[in-house]
Amino acid sequence: MLFDEDILVALEEAADKSERTRSSFWETELEDFSFTAKGEMTGLIPVGSISKKYSQIHKTAHWLLQWPYRYIIRESQNFGECYDLAKFIAEGQERAVTLDMLRQTLGLAVIKDNLDVKGLEGINLVIGDGYGVMTSLLKLSYSETKIVTVNLTTPLLMDLVFARKAIPSLRIALPTNQVEMMDALNQNDIDVIAIQADNSKLISEANVGLAVALHCMQEMTNSVIKSYFDLLRGNKNDRTAFYCLNRIYKQLYDGEEIKFFDFPWSLNDTVLIDEVCRWDNFEYNSRPPFWSRNPNQKQHRLVILENLR
Ligand SMILES: C[S@@+](CC[C@H](N)C(=O)[O-])C[C@H]1O[C@@H](n2cnc3c(N)ncnc32)[C@H](O)[C@@H]1O
Repeated sequence: MLFDEDILVALEEAADKSERTRSSFWETELEDFSFTAKGEMTGLIPVGSISKKYSQIHKTAHWLLQWPYRYIIRESQNFGECYDLAKFIAEGQERAVTLDMLRQTLGLAVIKDNLDVKGLEGINLVIGDGYGVMTSLLKLSYSETKIVTVNLTTPLLMDLVFARKAIPSLRIALPTNQVEMMDALNQNDIDVIAIQADNSKLISEANVGLAVALHCMQEMTNSVIKSYFDLLRGNKNDRTAFYCLNRIYKQLYDGEEIKFFDFPWSLNDTVLIDEVCRWDNFEYNSRPPFWSRNPNQKQHRLVILENLR
């Protein structure tokens, strides 16, 4: 099994290998993009914006433009603490707390407001992270709990490079088979278990307390979405919480339609939150009128999944 630096090198080398779990959207988006183990990036990739402009003026501008989001979440018991963690991560990653980061921070605050995450047994699972932000947020929030993060190969490399910028002491393992996965789960000094999406079935070895999927299922094929639900419903934990924040509708480049309400939800899931996500339907930029509506509505749902093991 590979650890730490060796993982980064291996993922860089594997970047050009085909992946079964790429949708037509990601097949196209990854075509002219590359990212090295040293963190050098060529091309553009839609996993959020890692603004290199992070002088005090830029940071303040973001903060000022984010006031409507803070207003919406003003009753949260946990947002302030989560935002402090986001600032810490942004410092390490040498960036500002941009909107994509804020969105993930708001997501975590809502989860914490509605769920005793510390009381959950098992690992935390991040599906389709961006720049390792959610992985870092969860690790800083629950340092004792292992994180499993699953992504396509190149975005996974990015997640790990950026998570290590935020938390340099992170110990990471990359299992590629069941035995290695069990081994990684049993090693106390491993903080993060990274899994390439094509190996996602390894998740079934884990005891998943909380799983999160933000803005990622909207870009997967329906069969990949179903496979993640199957893994979550069949994992070793009787009580798996799942926070899902995704577009209500998206059409992929090959015409496949992704519909949030058609995900394989069950009437036996216990629903804690289910609404159009109020902070995720508008964006800001630096020019008047500063805020604009995004026509692509997002739904967020927090459930305790029916276990079908
Ligand atoms: C738009 S980005 C969202 C990033 C981040 N979660 C956020 O909220 O900003 C979509 C993410 O989904 C990931 N993704 C796409 N297909 C995937 C798959 N089959 N398994 C896991 N992640 C996948 C992409 O690599 C990318 O990291």
